[in-house]
Amino acid sequence: MLESVEARMEAFIADLDNREIMDLFRRLPAGKRLRAKLVLKIAGEREEAVKLAAVIEMIHAASLLHDDVIDDAQTRRGVASMNATEGSKQAIMMGDILYSKGFEELTGFERRIAAAVAGAVTQLSIGELMDVRLGERFNPDKEAYMKMVYQKTAALIEATAASAAMLAGKEAEVYATYGRNLGIAFQIIDDILDITQSAEKLGKPAMHDLEEGKTTLPYIYLYEALGERERQKLISLHGKPLDESARAWIKEKMVASGALQRAYLEAKALGEEAVALMRKAGEPALAEIVTAMIEREF
Ligand code: FPP
Ligand code: MG
Repeated sequence: MLESVEARMEAFIADLDNREIMDLFRRLPAGKRLRAKLVLKIAGEREEAVKLAAVIEMIHAASLLHDDVIDDAQTRRGVASMNATEGSKQAIMMGDILYSKGFEELTGFERRIAAAVAGAVTQLSIGELMDVRLGERFNPDKEAYMKMVYQKTAALIEATAASAAMLAGKEAEVYATYGRNLGIAFQIIDDILDITQSAEKLGKPAMHDLEEGKTTLPYIYLYEALGERERQKLISLHGKPLDESARAWIKEKMVASGALQRAYLEAKALGEEAVALMRKAGEPALAEIVTAMIEREF
C-alpha cells in the first residue's frame, strides 16, 4: 500500500521537470514511512489520503536533509547522507525543494488540514532549534528535553494522525493524542537504541547522541541516579568522541542504575495509552503500530 505513496511522491517531483532533482530524490533512502502508514491506516487508501501521506513524507524527508547538515551527519538510514555525498548546499536546497513542493500541494487540502500540518512544521523547526541550544552543554532538565522532543518529533506525528482523521471524518482529537504519544514514545525508544544497539543495526554511528551533545532521556535519568563524582565524569564525556572505556562505563551504568529501564517504561506507558485509545476506537492496526514501534530493535 505504501507503493501508491512512493508513486505519488515521484509524480510530485516529476512535476518539477528537472532531471537532477529527480535523481537526487531517487537516491534518498525511504526509511520506515511511519507517517505514511499512519495516514493510510487512519484515512484508508483514498486518493486524498495517498496525497496527504506523500506531502507529509516529503516534508519529513526535507527536515532530515536539513537535520543532517545541522548535525553534520555522514550517514542516514545506513547510507551516506546527501550532505556527505553532494555537499551541504545541495542537501539544504533539496530539502527546500521537497518542503516547498509539499507545502504547495498542502494548499489543495481543506484549511484545517493544511493548518494542522503547517503548524506542526513550525513546531518541528522550533524543536530543532531547541535541540541545538540544549546540545551546547549537558542538560539534566527533563522538562526542557521532553518539550523539545514533543516539538521536534511528536508534533508532526500528532498532526499526521489528526489531519488523516479529519480527511476520514473521524474524531481528530483522539487521533492527535494517539499521534502525540506515539511520537514521544518513538523518540524515547530511539534514544534507548542509540545506547544499546550496534552501528550496523542503527544505520548510523552507535552511542552517538552524547557525542553529538544530545542529553537524551536515559542520560538525564542516569545523571539523576549517580553520585556527585560520577555525575562530573558523565558531564565530562558530553559533546566529544567517546573512547571504548567511556562507552563501556556508560553502558554499565545505564543498566546498573536502571536509567535505561526507567526510560523504557516511560515509553511503554505512553505507548500503552495510545494502544488503549485505538482499541477503544476499534483500530487494532493502529494499536499494532505502537506495539511494533516499542519492540523494534533499530
Ligand atoms: C531528527 O532529529 C530531526 C527531526 C525529527 C526534525 C528536524 C527539523 C528541522 C531541521 C526543521 C526544518 C524543517 C523543514 C521541514 C525544512 P535527530 O537528529 O535527533 O535524529 P537522527 O538521529 O535521525 O538524526
Ligand atoms: Mg540528526
